[in-house]
Amino acid sequence: MSNRNPQLNKNGELQHLLTTEGLPAAILVKILDTAESFVGVTERDVKKIPLLRGKSVFNLFFEPSTRTRTTFDIAAKRLSADIFNLNIAASSQTKGETLLDTVNNLSAMYADIFVVRHSQSGAAHLIARHVHPEIHVINAGDGSHAHPTQGLLDMFTIRRYKKEFHNLRVAIIGDILHSRVARSQIHALTTLGVPEVRVIAPKTLLPNMVERLGVHVYHDMAKGLQDVDVLMMLRLQNERMQSANLPSSEEYFKYYGLTQEKLSLARSDAIVMHPGPMNRGVEIDSSVADGQQSVILPQVTFGVAVRMAVMSILVGS
Ligand code: CP
Repeated sequence: MSNRNPQLNKNGELQHLLTTEGLPAAILVKILDTAESFVGVTERDVKKIPLLRGKSVFNLFFEPSTRTRTTFDIAAKRLSADIFNLNIAASSQTKGETLLDTVNNLSAMYADIFVVRHSQSGAAHLIARHVHPEIHVINAGDGSHAHPTQGLLDMFTIRRYKKEFHNLRVAIIGDILHSRVARSQIHALTTLGVPEVRVIAPKTLLPNMVERLGVHVYHDMAKGLQDVDVLMMLRLQNERMQSANLPSSEEYFKYYGLTQEKLSLARSDAIVMHPGPMNRGVEIDSSVADGQQSVILPQVTFGVAVRMAVMSILVGS
């Protein structure tokens, strides 16, 4: 059996983007550098370039999304691709068609890229193993496993504001247990050379043996936020909680909600990030979310350039 990374082709180039885990630093940096060149395109009056002209991108979102789905849509259009947003609720999935039969039928319409969000961890991997080698699969979030383009746009945002990775202390705060975003962030941060990645959460919201991912664990915000350069907030994923992981959202806010007072424990030039959707008054106070240290909306803007970069690199490989 081959141990080759299923995301890479035989030349070591990106064939699919399924997870940030195991991706070489050179590929992560290539995506960030390519995205840098696309930021300029997104700021021009005429925002289109012909890199994906004639290509067909299918957005398959089996779970709700505002940011990821829309920014993939915009990114594909800016690259001059044809983009098709399958309406899952009105599709033949409701009549019992399997995921792979849906994919087979869309492949027969000459799809070039599938962008897949699914509640089941591994759904994008399953499709990537199944499709013809000329088709590329991008994981837009699978269960609590991975959300690689979110992780990458977060790395792009950090690099934009902090310039380097090798001198940073980064804290990821909140529901790490259920978060695909946290996993993608941790793998990308450690691969890019961030020397200290912290996770701050109650015990009930941390995976078993999370230290094995190379992070330092804190349960107390007062300790965990000391001297931090980047704060990455996460929402409580109530839809993925099996049992009562928490007493109440009010109590959670008291101990783990990011207020101005708690933020003042971090470095004075620290940036505050959040992948969205935010629950104001649960994991973050509005005065912080809308405050001077927040880069939450720039994250969304950079998401277009990063998704353009990923699609253009895949089609060029
Ligand atoms: N960050 C993120 O994945 O947001 P959406 O669920 O709105 O796509």
